[in-house]
Amino acid sequence: MTSAAQPPGLPELSDDAVRRFAQIREDFTRMMLGYRFGMEQVATRLEILREEFAELHLDNPIEHISTRVKSPESILEKAARQGVELEIPALREHITDIAGVRVICSFVADVYRLMTALTEQADISVRLVKDYIANPKPNGYRSLHVILEIPVFLSSGPVQVPVEVQFRTVAMDFWASTEHKIFYKYEGDVPAHLRQRITDAAATAARMDEEMAQLHRAVHGTD
Ligand code: GTP
Ligand code: MG
Repeated sequence: MTSAAQPPGLPELSDDAVRRFAQIREDFTRMMLGYRFGMEQVATRLEILREEFAELHLDNPIEHISTRVKSPESILEKAARQGVELEIPALREHITDIAGVRVICSFVADVYRLMTALTEQADISVRLVKDYIANPKPNGYRSLHVILEIPVFLSSGPVQVPVEVQFRTVAMDFWASTEHKIFYKYEGDVPAHLRQRITDAAATAARMDEEMAQLHRAVHGTD
């Protein structure tokens, strides 16, 4: 094919290659849309729970919700790093954090309460739970991670979309965002004396969560 759009100096593409490329592009676009819609649905379900709790239980377990879809560059980089084939089924199976939702709660009890309320919904299935609150990472990282699947209905049919939901308290989030910035500043090679202080700070954050929960119970009775 001699296409007007063909950049000069490149070998000519066959009709077949152009068709395959167009198909890959369309499949990838549909895949990314699926992730975005899955993520938005999860965020909406959480917003509904937030409003319901606020109206009926007189307390608000959610401080903040944020969402993000991984960029195509990051997906490719992670797939290459993990040796995952660049095929949609393989990406769907192995790269489980393309759609991400982060839920910041006031108290540790709210983290579990919300996770249960979300994952008990009939059309949501849980693929994996990683409880870094019960079992913090060696550096002190704490959060409750759930990889769930939610159906999204596109014109081409339904797809089960994996979404990574991270539930954490304000204190856990403060620690994680600070640690993340330090990690990046040192390109992952954080000096030992700073690493120790970061881990100590995580313990301080955990104590603060405990203290806040006790204060809350003292004021409101047991939850
Ligand atoms: P990734 O390849 O980073 O997604 O990790 P993983 O597939 O081994 O899963 P894991 O549950 O360990 O981490 C998932 C996500 O949790 C990360 O992408 C971060 O957003 C967050 N996370 C995990 N560990 C840490 C940590 O030590 N510090 C911070 N700041 N965030 C973390
Ligand atoms: Mg990740």
